[in-house]
Amino acid sequence: MGIVSSTAIVLSIAVTLAVGDWQAPAENPASPQPYIQLAGSGICPQDRNTRTAPSRLRKKSNPLPATDENIAAGERLYRKTAKPTTCYLCHGRRGNGNGRLAPKLDPPPRNFTCAKMMDPIPDGQLFWIIQNGSRGTTMPPHKATLSETETWQLIHFIRTFSR
Ligand code: HEC
Repeated sequence: MGIVSSTAIVLSIAVTLAVGDWQAPAENPASPQPYIQLAGSGICPQDRNTRTAPSRLRKKSNPLPATDENIAAGERLYRKTAKPTTCYLCHGRRGNGNGRLAPKLDPPPRNFTCAKMMDPIPDGQLFWIIQNGSRGTTMPPHKATLSETETWQLIHFIRTFSR
């Protein structure tokens, strides 16, 4: 492959990632979009099949205060620094489950904007899944990359999507 065409490919990937969340394409009967049902947008509540956290942890509420600093730290992790993959690429910039990677994911990423679904989920459950991932899905474990404090900060930020 020539230098010019590989540069073009790299550029187009960069542009695609920079543009933001995946959007459902305009209605076009000639090319049905099988992924629309899978992406999280607008599906509220979603089917939840994540494993249940051990009861001690499940009952735990966020030990950090919901200060602006903790929420901002969570936002930075969500949008920029969390490893292995920043959360927004799957869960979406607006937290609606519709990140750029979402169209290919089954089950779809959690739609954090759905208060009806999110409000009853305890903090300890969110903590458990962020740390351990959801086996058999693309939700990765973050035990090795996020401290407990960072995980609780992320939970404060995620909660802002449904307020
Ligand atoms: C590669 C895609 C991907 C990335 C990156 C990702 N997630 Fe997820 N996430 C998912 C999917 C898919 C599910 C749904 C799993 C299921 O239904 O079992 C999910 C579910 C969740 C849940 C729901 C837990 C529950 O019990 O309902 C939380 C909370 C969550 N993710 C937080 C995060 C955070 C925080 C990050 C970044 C540190 C992150 N995710 C990164 C794909 C991803």
